[in-house]
Amino acid sequence: MSLRDALRIPSSAITDESVYRQRRQLLAAFAAAPALTLTGCAEAEPPPPPKTAITPEQARSGFRTDEELTTWDDITTYNNFYEFGTRKNDPSNAAKTLRTRPWSVAVGGECAKPGTIALDDLLKGLKPEERVYRMRCVEGWSMVIPWLGVPLGEVLKKFEPNSKAKYVAFTSLADPRQMPGVRYRSINWPYTEGLRMDEAMHPLTLLATGLYGKPLPQQNGAPLRLVVPWKYGFKGIKSIVEIKFVEKMPETAWHDLQPSEYGFFSNVNPNVDHPRWSQKTERRIAGKASKLFADRIATRMYNGYGEQVASMYAGLDLKKWF
Ligand code: MTE
Repeated sequence: MSLRDALRIPSSAITDESVYRQRRQLLAAFAAAPALTLTGCAEAEPPPPPKTAITPEQARSGFRTDEELTTWDDITTYNNFYEFGTRKNDPSNAAKTLRTRPWSVAVGGECAKPGTIALDDLLKGLKPEERVYRMRCVEGWSMVIPWLGVPLGEVLKKFEPNSKAKYVAFTSLADPRQMPGVRYRSINWPYTEGLRMDEAMHPLTLLATGLYGKPLPQQNGAPLRLVVPWKYGFKGIKSIVEIKFVEKMPETAWHDLQPSEYGFFSNVNPNVDHPRWSQKTERRIAGKASKLFADRIATRMYNGYGEQVASMYAGLDLKKWF
């Protein structure tokens, strides 16, 4: 099942741009009318994060797991990368055409040193580290992946974010000449994601450049993708071309498509089901186990990284801010 299938939107229902714009205007009009409240609608902004700090030892305990690894073949052929199609094998078949060099990233917004920077300069002075993380997809499957990457926070610091930088917004490349899926409106391209500043600076949050000690294959988001192990996999935005420090919670691709089903935080949580399926268990794709009939295991709160990350959400209503 792909996320698209999960949404069950027939192609006939994919909105024509003019209708989409009208709908946006209508929503804006609703938002502007002070007497109207939309029931079930979340507040505009969640409460600010608590001021907490984790120790380096606490962080390091999450850097590796000795669970059985998912094979290179499974990690690189069972993918979600809708820019190359919505079936799991589309990205490995179609993404070879993606040119990943030269590559640059535009960094801007609320910071002292904005600019467009070549990938090598962005990563200069940072040594890629191996991190073995669980990845839990919102669709109900999971993998154990040996990433290579640098802590996102170390990269962000170079741009000197200011006190207005409350969130970080990310954007993927969306080039229809290289990415056949972008010609179809499965997502409102480009793919976007976001993190709260403390989540972005957390030592577990990685900008991945490789896996299994090799450069990242295109289908996994080369040359640069986000990895946030305590969140559902769709937060791991691929082939990043823009990073922006912003004051307000940014719009994100899946939330934009179906806000009642995909929240901004998207922390793995077995106690908050997806509106149409349970999140209590996951199909663990690891070792020789068959992809589709792999054993189901219990899903853990924050994907098992609670010791490292739970304090960032103290006092937050996780049913509301899913
Ligand atoms: N990033 C972009 N740009 N486009 C996508 O379609 N899919 C997301 C995420 N990042 C996606 C993306 C989803 S739904 C998941 S589960 C992970 O990438 C999958 O990563 P993988 O294919 O490397 O396992």
